[in-house]
Amino acid sequence: MIVDVNLGSRSYRIVVASGALQSVGERLRELRLGSRAALVSDGAIMRLYGKTVVASLESAGFTVTTIDVPEGEAAKTLAVAEHCWDRLLTAGLDRTSTVLALGGGAVGDVAGFAAATYMRGINFIQLPTTVLAQVDASIGGKTAIDHPLGKNMIGAFHQPRLVVVDPAVARTLPEREFRSGLAEIVKHGIVLDADYFAELERDLAPLAARDLGVLERIIGGSCRLKASVVERDEREAELRHVLNYGHTIGHALEAATGYTRYAHGEAVSLGIVAEARLARRLGIADDETTTRQERMLETLGLPVRAPSIDVEPIVSAMARDKKAKDGRVPFVLAPRIGAFRIVYDVPTTEIHAVIASLGS
Ligand SMILES: NC(=O)c1ccc[n+]([C@@H]2O[C@H](COP(=O)([O-])OP(=O)(O)OC[C@H]3O[C@@H](n4cnc5c(N)ncnc54)[C@H](O)[C@@H]3O)[C@@H](O)[C@H]2O)c1
Ligand SMILES: [Zn+2]
Repeated sequence: MIVDVNLGSRSYRIVVASGALQSVGERLRELRLGSRAALVSDGAIMRLYGKTVVASLESAGFTVTTIDVPEGEAAKTLAVAEHCWDRLLTAGLDRTSTVLALGGGAVGDVAGFAAATYMRGINFIQLPTTVLAQVDASIGGKTAIDHPLGKNMIGAFHQPRLVVVDPAVARTLPEREFRSGLAEIVKHGIVLDADYFAELERDLAPLAARDLGVLERIIGGSCRLKASVVERDEREAELRHVLNYGHTIGHALEAATGYTRYAHGEAVSLGIVAEARLARRLGIADDETTTRQERMLETLGLPVRAPSIDVEPIVSAMARDKKAKDGRVPFVLAPRIGAFRIVYDVPTTEIHAVIASLGS
């Protein structure tokens, strides 16, 4: 599947196909960029897929430098970005050269940030290897590193020139990481596309079993949905907030539990359950809309209950949300499957009630 992201002079293509990592070199050559490339990845991913990508690039005539970064969130620091700049300089990459990120969202974020800032911005290509990175982080041009005072606080918008998604690589993901990524897929269906959500409902079993054909179709569909939002709102003016569905409460839950108890997608799953119940309580959505969401998450093995959670720390974490104004956050709610509405004045008592309901 090919998804075109139309952003004028910053337009690019998302290629979704099993085995697509073998074609990275040819596809890069078609873009007619300079002959030097740097491949940024962590040790684990490099061992699994690095050889395939380097071979593809070299046989297409590129000179490749590899840059090793730590695994996971530890990659998103200024020191790691600096390490990338050092390697780019010593390898002689210039403004026609290309940085490729092979890995999850963390590798994509730091490599993208290095590419955005090196010589005021050079070509960047995303080769996402987690489900979350394939359907979410690699599309849209947000790059970032963390600051001791907050995640993703330092960054830049820098659109990739190409995104190559190979759904086959999802088969080596640890089970928890895989399921966590599915939460973003469910989110896209709920707020953006009723037919896609129904397709998910039909394909839950083969999806959870990582059937290759189903993975390719579902991941491709989710990329198309994310791309359509990015096209209409490149810089997060307002529409892009729709992608925060399940994240307002989800992020607060992650922050309140010190980012250790829940994987991101698990927190989003609980956030979706709470926000679906919120829509029901406010009379915006009906029972069926709420139960379909909960049922899907549960079938995919994502948490829909959070025993023994403290409501207060979650509510106060929400007031520190980047989108909060005067301590109040706007909520994206789903009036029905495939639609959304932004609600600004949700009574605090209702927020307390739905978070507390996760405990039972
Ligand atoms: N830029 C954006 O728009 C955006 C959007 C969402 C999230 N993010 C960021 O993404 C990050 C999270 O990304 P993530 O969930 O992809 O995880 P990750 O990048 O933190 O790491 C995933 C882990 O899985 C391993 N891994 C990756 N692919 C694998 C594969 N195919 N097989 C086996 N192991 C593999 C990696 O080695 C790593 O240990 C966060 O830092 C978040 O802030 C960015
Ligand atoms: Zn998310």
